[in-house]
Amino acid sequence: MEGGTGLDYDRKSAVKEFDDSKAGVQGLIENGVTKVPQMFYCQQYNINDSSVNESNSKVSVPIIDLTGIHDDHVLRDGVVRKVQNACEKWGFFQVINHEISTHVLDEMIKGTCRFHQQDVMIRKEYYTRDPSKKVVYVSNYSLYHDPSANWRDSLGFLMAPNPPKPEDFPELCRDIVMEYSEKIMRFASTLLELLSEALGLNRGHLKEIGCDEGFIILCHYYPPCPEPELTIGNSNHTDNDFITILLQDHIGGLQVLHDNKWIDVTPIHGALVVNIGDLLQLVTNDKFISVQHRVLAKHIGPRISVASLFRTDDESIIYGPIKELLSEENPPVYRNVSLKDYSTQYYAKGIGTSALSYFKV
Ligand code: OGA
Ligand code: NI
Repeated sequence: MEGGTGLDYDRKSAVKEFDDSKAGVQGLIENGVTKVPQMFYCQQYNINDSSVNESNSKVSVPIIDLTGIHDDHVLRDGVVRKVQNACEKWGFFQVINHEISTHVLDEMIKGTCRFHQQDVMIRKEYYTRDPSKKVVYVSNYSLYHDPSANWRDSLGFLMAPNPPKPEDFPELCRDIVMEYSEKIMRFASTLLELLSEALGLNRGHLKEIGCDEGFIILCHYYPPCPEPELTIGNSNHTDNDFITILLQDHIGGLQVLHDNKWIDVTPIHGALVVNIGDLLQLVTNDKFISVQHRVLAKHIGPRISVASLFRTDDESIIYGPIKELLSEENPPVYRNVSLKDYSTQYYAKGIGTSALSYFKV
C-alpha cells in the first residue's frame, strides 16, 4: 500500500487495492502507516500558500445567535438581516442557540467515532459503492475519478424522502443518527424560513420549491495524518445542494475561501455551521453565494464532522432563478436546468469549483 515515487508507479492498482481493503484510511492507520501513500498526494496547490489563520486574520465567518426568533419579532428581524448579510458576503455562517441540545451534538460526534473505530470486520460489511444503498460506508466517493484521494472516510445515510429501515443502520450509531436526523430536519425547516425571509420572499417559499425534500447525512472521519503537508482532508469544493448544516468537533481544519483568502471556520462547541450550496445560488440568481471550502489534514486527530445536505429528491425537477427575485435591473443570470443536468456537469468537472458558470445565460 506504500506509495512509490518512481515513474512506474501504478496508481490504478494502488487505488483498487486500497478500495478492496474496505477498511478506509482508518485501515491504513490500524496497520501502522507512517508515510502517506502516493495516491493521496495532493498537488493542486500549495496548501499553506494563501492560508490565513484565525489568529492573524481580522475577519471571521459570521456567528448568528438564534435566541428569540420564534417569539420576538424584533429579534427575528435582526437575525434575518444577519443571515442575509452572511449569505451575500460569505455563503457561510455559524449558528448558536439553535434548537438542538449540545448533548445531542456531542453524542452524534461520539456515534460517528464509534462506527469508524469499531472492528474492521464489522465496519467492512457496510463498505460499498452501490448507489442504490441507503447506508454507505466508503472512503472518497469519487475515488476512481479524482486526481488524488482525500485523507478521509465517510459513513452516509440517505434519510429523506425515505429513510433506511431501522435494522439497516449500524448498531453503534443507530439511535443517535435517527434522533439527530429528526432534529436537523426540523432545524432545516426553520433555516429555510429565515433564508426565505432574508430574500424578501414568503416564509414558506424555499420549502415549497422542495429545498429540503432530499436529505443526506455524511458522517466524516479524518484520521490523524503522518505527513499532513502532502495531502488534504477534503479538497476544495462547493456543495451540490441547497443548504448544508455541518457539525464539527473541536479539532479544526475547515476553511472557506473569502476575498481570495482561506479563512478558518473556528470550532465552537455547540454551534452548527451553515453553508449555501450551488442550487441556492442558482435559484437566488447569485444573491446568495456558494463558496469554496476545504479541510486540511493534520497530525492530530481523528477529526469528526457530520454534514447534513439538503436538496431535492427528484432529479427531473427544473430549477431556475426565482421569478420574484427578478426585475429589469436584475435579469436572470442562469437558464433553467434540471438537477440531473446540474449533477452531471458538477461531477464531469471533477470535484472542485461549482458547475454554475456552465449554465449562465
Ligand atoms: C462536505 C464538507 C466539511 C467538513 O461534506 O461537503 O465540506 O468539515 N465537509 O467535513
Ligand atoms: Ni462541503
